[in-house]
Amino acid sequence: MAAHLTSLLDLTPAQTKRVVDLAVEVKKHPQEFAKDLAGKSIAMIFAKQSTRTRISFEVGIHQLGAQALALSAGGSSGMQLGRGETIHDTANVLSRFVDGIVIRTFGQDQVDGLAEHGSVPVINALTDKYHPCQALADLLTIREHLGSPEGKTLVYVGAGNNVAHSLMLAGPRSGMNVICACPASLPPHQDVLARAEADAKEAGTTVTVSHNLHEAAEGAHVLYTDTWVSMGEEAEAKALMKKLEGFCITADIMKRADPSAQFMHCLPAHREEEVSTEVMDGPQSVVFDQAENRLHAQKALMLLLFGARAW
Ligand code: CP
Ligand code: NVA
Repeated sequence: MAAHLTSLLDLTPAQTKRVVDLAVEVKKHPQEFAKDLAGKSIAMIFAKQSTRTRISFEVGIHQLGAQALALSAGGSSGMQLGRGETIHDTANVLSRFVDGIVIRTFGQDQVDGLAEHGSVPVINALTDKYHPCQALADLLTIREHLGSPEGKTLVYVGAGNNVAHSLMLAGPRSGMNVICACPASLPPHQDVLARAEADAKEAGTTVTVSHNLHEAAEGAHVLYTDTWVSMGEEAEAKALMKKLEGFCITADIMKRADPSAQFMHCLPAHREEEVSTEVMDGPQSVVFDQAENRLHAQKALMLLLFGARAW
């Protein structure tokens, strides 16, 4: 039984599959789950902007019969966390009031600290290091469009960032091979790569890094990208854009992939930077299904983590 989702490291392959299987059910029969979290309160702390994550959690919590508390980490209407109250004290206090905590913030240590010091389940809604909810929803989208992630190859194109890290961990947990196609100057974190490679070895899949987009795209079943400038990196935007030149997913790159290939993007997108308008709005793009699936996957995750359904 997983207690938290601080990253995909908290889930075994079987638990990952359980979340996606339940998400399929939740999507098909939402009414069957409408009272499953009745009487519960879930705190949602956001220290960074969000459209999809915040709205899908808030709507999802409502659809499961629970109450969502949308909280800002800082600012004049924010939590004391923004004025230096420790994560240890915040975790203890929130655990007295709520049944679960969803948090989007900068440092992974904040999420890990809440999980360590609190006594309720904690869900990582994005940190600088990981974005596990995105990857779980993406596995649902891949299942819908390609039948199953098993035996497929996903090529992530861009900086070795939070989304890349979570996809690299999602691969071995779902039978999927992952290639991280990134500039040599923006590799994934070494510790994540090492862990993903070890998990892949055990699962009989592969996780590799390539610095050649044209080669990496050959035969891919999913071509996936993310914004070139992540939240918190605004000061380095110019340098990042320069490093990522040549890593745009264009129609020419899509042609190298398998004919069944899907274009995926966690969004928000920047047309003509990481993806051409033609690909983003083209027939192989499933980006809005991906966005919708955040709702269903997170509802399934909450049902399991908050004890309404058995793992
Ligand atoms: N993909 C994603 O997490 O989107 P938001 O930043 O809008 O939540
Ligand atoms: N890598 C991006 C993902 C946004 C959903 C960021 O962290 O801003």
